[in-house]
Amino acid sequence: MATLRLGDTAPDFTTETTDGEVSFYDWKGDSWAILFSHPKDFTPVCTTELGRVAALKDEWDKRNVKVIGVSVDPIDSHHEWAKDIADVGGTALNFPLIADPDRTVADLYDLIHPNANDTLTVRSVYVIGPDNKVKLNLTYPASTGRNFDEIVRAIDSLQLTANHSVATPADWTQGEDVIIAPAISDEDAKERFPAGWDAKKPYLRYTKQP
Ligand code: BEZ
Repeated sequence: MATLRLGDTAPDFTTETTDGEVSFYDWKGDSWAILFSHPKDFTPVCTTELGRVAALKDEWDKRNVKVIGVSVDPIDSHHEWAKDIADVGGTALNFPLIADPDRTVADLYDLIHPNANDTLTVRSVYVIGPDNKVKLNLTYPASTGRNFDEIVRAIDSLQLTANHSVATPADWTQGEDVIIAPAISDEDAKERFPAGWDAKKPYLRYTKQP
């Protein structure tokens, strides 16, 4: 079992999903991707989570993000449960759900945390960049449903900071001022941010979102 850290290469795999067989790298291409796990089919929190992710399809598409879910339940169970997800959430399942009864994907992505539960996958989220590197990883316990607005917000930050020498402050959302990366000297910053900045501290320089 691997521990995957930020900057590591996300492992490739070929697996059975509700959309048929998926080879992860081929399916993902050079898009961004979210791979997220949930503990079990036909459970309440998971049902709300998968419905929410399906309802956010336009947000994923706008950001060139492909989404794939995973749990250790078998494919027939996933197909049956998909009807409930559509019924409860109001949006049909519109992304592949991996059936991982032999735990191939769970082991590759360290999704079973034995001190929480030794058979079920936890609620992990991996955001994977176009270069197939892990950009963000978070893990919640079974009893706490995730906030997918936060995942969208974090992807906005990841995509912005991948292309500009900036960082985003606490609670930042799209369109708000950003922070000039500490590695950029004031001299360099004059060239890169000609509109200037507001230095709250020498190391904390706010500027307009590029
Ligand atoms: C749930 O999705 O509601 C859930 C799943 C596993 C354990 C506890 C809750």
